[in-house]
Amino acid sequence: HGTSRVNEHGHLEIGGVDTTELTSKFGTPLYVFDEQLMRETMRAYKSAWDATGLRYEVAYASKAFCTLAMCRIVAEEGLALDVVSGGELHTALKANFPSERIHFHGNNKTPDEIEQALNAGIGAFVVDNFHELALLGALAVEKGVVADILLRLSPGVEVHTHEYISTGQEDSKFGFDLQSGAAQQAIQLSLQTKGVRLVGLHSHIGSQIFETEGFKHAIDIVGNLFAQAVKEWGAKDLSVLNVGGGFGIRYTEGDTPLQVQQYIEAIAEGVKATFDSLGLAHPEVVIEPGRSIVGNAGTTLYTVGSSKNIPGVRKYVSVNGGMSDNPRPALYQAVYEAMLANRATEEPTEVVSIAGKACESGDMLIWDAKLPEVQAGDILAVSCTGAYNYSMASNYNRIARPAVVFVQNGVADVVVKRESFDDLVSLDVVPARLMDGVL
Ligand code: LLP
Repeated sequence: HGTSRVNEHGHLEIGGVDTTELTSKFGTPLYVFDEQLMRETMRAYKSAWDATGLRYEVAYASKAFCTLAMCRIVAEEGLALDVVSGGELHTALKANFPSERIHFHGNNKTPDEIEQALNAGIGAFVVDNFHELALLGALAVEKGVVADILLRLSPGVEVHTHEYISTGQEDSKFGFDLQSGAAQQAIQLSLQTKGVRLVGLHSHIGSQIFETEGFKHAIDIVGNLFAQAVKEWGAKDLSVLNVGGGFGIRYTEGDTPLQVQQYIEAIAEGVKATFDSLGLAHPEVVIEPGRSIVGNAGTTLYTVGSSKNIPGVRKYVSVNGGMSDNPRPALYQAVYEAMLANRATEEPTEVVSIAGKACESGDMLIWDAKLPEVQAGDILAVSCTGAYNYSMASNYNRIARPAVVFVQNGVADVVVKRESFDDLVSLDVVPARLMDGVL
C-alpha cells in the first residue's frame, strides 16, 4: 500500500522511514500513518468528482480517526469534516478547521453539543430525529440565528456488510424512515420550524461497501422525496444530496473494493439519472468517506513477546497490544494481515495465531497468520489499521494507548503522544477519607 516497501535492510519502510527505527525511537505498540497515502486518497476523491461536472463536497468522517494533526491535513486538502460529537467538534475547532466546512451528525446530540456547534457557526446539522429538530430550532431562535440542516433519512436499503456497521435499513436507530411516513413528515415540519433552514437530505447505507447498487438505490429513493419536497411542499432551499460514506477498502486478499473513481462515477451517474428524470436541477452532492481515507494508510507495530505451542492444535504468539488498540477483530470478526517488519524478506514458514495481551480470550488479533518463525523481540506489523483503531481504542486492563506518528518523505512526526501510566490515573480522584499513603 502507498509508500510502504521493503528496504535494503530487509525491513518494512513506510513514508521513507524504516519501521525498526520508528520502534526504537517511539516504542511499541505504535500507530504509523502514511501521510502521503491519505493525501493522495483525498485528492483522488476530489479529482473523481471534478470529472463529473457536479457540484460536490467531500467530508472526511472524522470518527474513523480524529486528531488535531489529522484535522489540519483535512483542512489543507480542502475537504469538509463530518463530526458526531462535542469531542470531535472541539478537536476540529482547536485545529482551526474552518467551521463553515463542518457538519454535525449523531442520533442524540445533547443541548450542550448543539449550543457548542451553534456558537461555532458550523456549516450544517444533519438532523436525525424529531426531538433534535425541535431542540435545534428552539436553541437557534434563542440565539437569533438560523441553522442550515439536512435531514438524515433511512431509505430502507440493505447492503451486505457486518450487521453492526450496516445502517441504512428500516429497522435502525438512525434517521427518519420513509415507510412509516416519518421522513415525509420531518421534511414538512422542518419547513415550518423557526430557526432552521432545510438545505439537504442525507442517507448513509452502511460501511465497507464493495458495490454501487446500494448507493444508486438510495439516491433513487431519496431523490424522489427530494422532488416531492421541492415541487409539492415548497422546499425552496433544498439543494444538497448527501449520500454518506461507506466506501470499502482492502484489508486482505479476499476483499474486492472498487476504486475511488468507480464509486464516484456510479454515484454521479445515479444522481444525474434520478434528478434528470425528475426534472430537477442537479444537487450539490456530499459524500462522507472515513475508512477509505485513513484505513489503508495506518499500520500498527507491535513487539512480539511470549509464544505457546499446543502441539497438533495451534501456536499462539502474543504481542504487546491487542484489543485495546484494535477492537475490530473482537467486535466484528474483522480479519487483518501481518508481517514481520524486521524480517520482511523472509518467507513464511509457520502458521501462528496472534494474541493480544488483554485478559480476555476474545483478544485475538489474527487467526492463522503465515509468518517466518516468530521470535520474541520481532516487530509485527499489522496493516490497514488506520480506520476505527485509534478512534475506538480503550484502556481496558489499564493498558496505555499507543503513540501515533505520521510519516512522509523520510520524516516521522508524533501526532499523539504515548499515554503514560500517570495519564491513566490523571483523572482519578481519591476522597480524603481514603488518602492514607496515596502518592
Ligand atoms: N457517514 C455516516 C453517517 C456514518 O455513520 C459513517 C460511519 C460514515 C459516514 C463513514 O463511513 P466509512 O466511510 O468510514 O465507512 N466502527 C466500525 C465502522 C462504523 C461506521 C459508522 N458510521 C468499524 O470499525 O468497521
